[in-house]
Amino acid sequence: MAPRVAMRSYPSSEACVSVSAVPVASPTGRDRVTHLRLLRAGAPAHAEVWLIEYAGQLAVLKSYAHGGWLFRTVAGAHLVRREAAAYRRLEGVAGVPRLLGCIGGEALVVEHIDGRNCLAGDTHQLGADFFAALNEILRASRARGVLHGDVKRNVLCAGDGRPWLVDFGASFVIGRWLSPLRPLILRVAAVYDQRAVAKLKRQVAPHLLTADEGRLLDARLPFEQLVKGGERLLRWGTQWIKRRESRRSTADV
Ligand SMILES: Nc1ncnc2c1ncn2[C@@H]1O[C@H](COP(=O)(O)OP(=O)(O)OP(=O)(O)O)[C@@H](O)[C@H]1O
Ligand SMILES: [Mg+2]
Repeated sequence: MAPRVAMRSYPSSEACVSVSAVPVASPTGRDRVTHLRLLRAGAPAHAEVWLIEYAGQLAVLKSYAHGGWLFRTVAGAHLVRREAAAYRRLEGVAGVPRLLGCIGGEALVVEHIDGRNCLAGDTHQLGADFFAALNEILRASRARGVLHGDVKRNVLCAGDGRPWLVDFGASFVIGRWLSPLRPLILRVAAVYDQRAVAKLKRQVAPHLLTADEGRLLDARLPFEQLVKGGERLLRWGTQWIKRRESRRSTADV
């Protein structure tokens, strides 16, 4: 089915720098949603992702509503808030879909991008321009204080061959309280982003890897132990929720 959503064009990089203060509409009624196709099945500790029609346009619904009470109201609500905050900060950045709204605190709705996940394996040949544009999205995101955190699995290649970055569920938004450390955080984050792009390249277009990127793939990055510790903690939390949710669904049967 041909998507009816109008694709935004990429504005100039200058346009990426100012932060829009326009609030995102937050419709509350589920009646504005028509489910069209399941994009990713929900699982314990994982969102359910749907292609939907929302207020007359194609959109993507990411919902935690299928989970148990704890998952829905604590983890899910927290993840929705975090992801929505990142999308709000990035409003207007070329290559990042627009947040269209949040529903009931446990789901968010994002502009649909007509494209394929780069890791799906059936995108057409990705060239150097594609990765340069991806680096530009990441640079513009950092300029707004948003660090994505899970780049490799979440890059879409649109029909016109341009990259789009989705899924800000693991992102980190640099708050005002961290302002004094912002320059340092951004310097370190830039290297992590370069490595994430290099990892994606290694998987989908290894012939484009530069010597510097090759070295970066093997390098030990600053604060790597700390980052890995954070990831381990996150994995542990996810496993804990999974076990709890599985016990709950077994008990419900
Ligand atoms: N705005 C969008 N437009 C088109 N497709 C999208 C969009 N957002 C997400 N998708 C598709 O749905 C998939 C799952 O969405 P998302 O990554 O946000 O959920 P997730 O729960 O984090 O999934 P995963 O754990 O697999 O990363 C994406 O990999 C992508 O293929
Ligand atoms: Mg994802």
